[in-house]
Amino acid sequence: MRHLLTLFDVEPAELETIFTITRDLKEKFDAGLREAILPGRVLAMLFERPSLRTRVSFEAAILQLGGGSLFLGEDVGFGSRESVEDCGRVLGQYVDVIVSRTRKHQSLVDFAPHCACSVINGLSEEAHPCQALADLYTMREHLGGLKKPRLAWIGDGNNVARSLAVGCAKMGFSFVAASPPDYQLDPAYLERVRQEVPGAEVQQVEDPQEAVADAEIIYTDVWASMGQETEKQSRAETFSAYQVNAELMRQAPERAIFMHCMPAHRGLEVTTDVIDGPQSVVLDQAANRMHVQKGLLAWLLGTQS
Ligand code: CP
Ligand code: NVA
Repeated sequence: MRHLLTLFDVEPAELETIFTITRDLKEKFDAGLREAILPGRVLAMLFERPSLRTRVSFEAAILQLGGGSLFLGEDVGFGSRESVEDCGRVLGQYVDVIVSRTRKHQSLVDFAPHCACSVINGLSEEAHPCQALADLYTMREHLGGLKKPRLAWIGDGNNVARSLAVGCAKMGFSFVAASPPDYQLDPAYLERVRQEVPGAEVQQVEDPQEAVADAEIIYTDVWASMGQETEKQSRAETFSAYQVNAELMRQAPERAIFMHCMPAHRGLEVTTDVIDGPQSVVLDQAANRMHVQKGLLAWLLGTQS
């Protein structure tokens, strides 16, 4: 059974397959066609944390492909009313695929092997593979002709940063993160990326200006992720030199695009003029969540290869 808990779970050639299916389905969608290639298929959305993009883009995706979805919130009692293993053994018999946003990545690791269907990580504190898939597709759309785009991640070395680091490596993109000393990507993680993806260019620096200097993609995310709400104030102080603003964007090549997975906090990690400005592709990223997840669902459910 194939699961997608992190982007280590997909080979580069499989990413290309997912993107080929995505392109086809997106072109059809743009032409007004919604092909029902997954009739009767059921997607369960098991969520322990809030979501706009992930929840709605997956639910819209499966509906447009002819299937249906079930949203399962806190009342299911995942890991509290019964064990995550028993939840998996039962739920996996009812549905064809599960998207799960758990409080702890470990719950997902414990859950997935007991499910008789594919499990997709819809964000954990460890990884956000669906976000990175949509982002890589968006980068291709905007910088398609470029041989080896370079992504500069500015801010916290978090779930999205980790997924982009491995995703960029698998796509042959170069990745550099600029973060304050205590918030950097774990060197062991970067080493794992280098081990698993020969030729991977993944790097961690401290200085945001150094990171953006030769990057075609400038990417940031919130300074305090879900589950870190009590650290908001202290993080705002620590990260104040990591704001993506017009001055930082001026240090990057003129053709650089700005990306953010959203939700965004204008005035903190990014200024309004940058996120709403001409270099920003944040709404394309959000739109592509649905298109790429259609490609992912079609590929995982085996209707296309
Ligand atoms: N980017 C993202 O995953 O957004 P949500 O938290 O709204 O799903
Ligand atoms: N790093 C953020 C991403 C939200 C989509 C979080 O985990 O809250």
